[in-house]
Amino acid sequence: MEYKIALLKGDGIGPEIVESACEVLDKVGEKFGHKFNYEAYLMGGCAIDATGVPLPDETVAGCKASDSVLLGAVGGPKWDTLPGHLRPEKALLGIRHALGLYTNIRPAKLYSALSAECPLRADIVEKGVDIVMIRELTGGIYFGERGRRDGQFGPEAYDTEAYSEFEVERIARAAFDTAMKRDRKKVTSIDKANVLESSRLWREVVHKVAKDYPEVECVDMLVDNAAMQLIKNPSQFDVVVTSNMFGDILSDESSQITGSIGLLPSASLGDSKCGMYEPIHGSAPDIAGTGKANPIATILSAAMMLRYSFDLEEEARCIEKAVDDVLAAGWRTADILGTSDATPLSCKEMTAKILEQI
Ligand code: IPM
Ligand code: MG
Repeated sequence: MEYKIALLKGDGIGPEIVESACEVLDKVGEKFGHKFNYEAYLMGGCAIDATGVPLPDETVAGCKASDSVLLGAVGGPKWDTLPGHLRPEKALLGIRHALGLYTNIRPAKLYSALSAECPLRADIVEKGVDIVMIRELTGGIYFGERGRRDGQFGPEAYDTEAYSEFEVERIARAAFDTAMKRDRKKVTSIDKANVLESSRLWREVVHKVAKDYPEVECVDMLVDNAAMQLIKNPSQFDVVVTSNMFGDILSDESSQITGSIGLLPSASLGDSKCGMYEPIHGSAPDIAGTGKANPIATILSAAMMLRYSFDLEEEARCIEKAVDDVLAAGWRTADILGTSDATPLSCKEMTAKILEQI
């Protein structure tokens, strides 16, 4: 089969890590008889520099015409002082919305080879950490009405959290469907139902959906408690489902349990097969061009693309196993060096190690 992949390399380390993921995809393609055709489009700071806007229409059209999208990272200090509607981050929200990518899957798994990098005590993580965080991605406060106005105490600003039953139901179904494919079959739904009306609706709808999945255990948790439980007892979580903003915050927290944000992939999905795949980390402008970037999160994102957009499960596992084997053999990039005395590999060298295993 041939597949058309739109590349949004973005800024900072984005181009280096996307390059690595494409090399891995090509090797998998050779091995299993697929051809991946790439078309690169501008997004983020590089798009601002070249066209004046962070998300050119051509980029949106190109992504829509592709089978899937692979994204590096956007943003950097150069564009940090631009007004909100021109910031590189705006492009990320814009492309998620334009492609209807309401389901964001962020797995956080602690590799046994890297358990020394986990900042939590060994007795806390001894039962393992294997969380799939499912974050609602096109609603809530990120997309609600916002603005400035004159308030009681003078000028003020506001942002609105709003969720429809429809939006909660579809993300809840995504979470329960994911749980059904896993051994533990547990969904923890995180909200702030003791205060927010939108969370009370969230909880009602999740309970309604749960009735269709009698095999799945469904637990509600308040977000402040969840922040605490992730540190106190992360092994209790299997699939987690939550709103856009709570998911943004908690997915960064859970990433730290695994040792490095440089390892974690993500998939953003909607109703069509065309998804967007990106590492959870940012553009790391401080190390861009130095060769220090860890390509693993982007390579694992490419594996998620094979699984979710192209239904190539065996090929996806082949990449994941290659990464497992390379880490188990002790190869490290600088970010996951920890206490190890190994010589850190560059982005290119790490990619080469992974290619050898495929
Ligand atoms: C993320 C990022 C983005 C978000 C930013 C860059 C807009 O933090 O993907 O988690 O908040 O969604
Ligand atoms: Mg974030």
